[in-house]
Amino acid sequence: MLGINPEAILTYCEDHTTPDSPVCKAIAEETHAKSEEARMLVGPVQGMFLTLLARSIGARRVLEIGTFTGYSALKLAEGLPDDGEVITCDVDPEVTAIAQKHWNKSPHGKKITLRLGQALKSVETLSGPFDLIFVDADKGNYINYWEACVPKLRTGGLIVADNVLWSGRVLEPKEKDDHAVVAFNRHVKNDRRVDVVMLTVRDGIAMACKR
Ligand SMILES: C[S@@+](CC[C@H](N)C(=O)[O-])C[C@H]1O[C@@H](n2cnc3c(N)ncnc32)[C@H](O)[C@@H]1O
Repeated sequence: MLGINPEAILTYCEDHTTPDSPVCKAIAEETHAKSEEARMLVGPVQGMFLTLLARSIGARRVLEIGTFTGYSALKLAEGLPDDGEVITCDVDPEVTAIAQKHWNKSPHGKKITLRLGQALKSVETLSGPFDLIFVDADKGNYINYWEACVPKLRTGGLIVADNVLWSGRVLEPKEKDDHAVVAFNRHVKNDRRVDVVMLTVRDGIAMACKR
């Protein structure tokens, strides 16, 4: 289990959430079958949360840091209009090949562009403004991603960071990544450019709106 919520509650939430599209389902199935890191997927509840967030703010341009096998990128794309775009960044050519294969089978896949390489370098080359930015990669760089991304977010746009409760370890940080997540959460709370809310969705989400 990833996160702080009891398994039975997560199952109940999932049972009362609009089910995944066939392609999202196929991504999740292949990821679970082939990868020991399948817990990294945001999953159907947080995934639908991202779809509805994108749709409800009328997002057209979305940036994602951390593609993996392409599940959350597709959930975001499913919340965009036909001319919307998701630019998603990852370093790993193997997992993102799985992503691309599945996106090609979805009517929303044409909205997604993959940037392969160190995400910080990729973000440097991208022009804003973005309506929505989803940060879900290496925790040690979270503050750097934040600082690279906030200037590229439009006023009123949303930046969402995943795993901010770090399975509850933020309460008693021990390892390097635990401390990185704690420092990130403090950094965001003190950032006067945004208003932020921390939510207990799955492993914790910080959702901030640019002033
Ligand atoms: C938690 S997974 C992303 C899961 C994805 N958002 C989903 O829910 O479907 C994190 C991804 O970040 C990528 N990553 C780690 N360090 C990175 C870096 N420095 N630059 C770009 N991507 C990185 C990893 O290769 C991995 O695929």
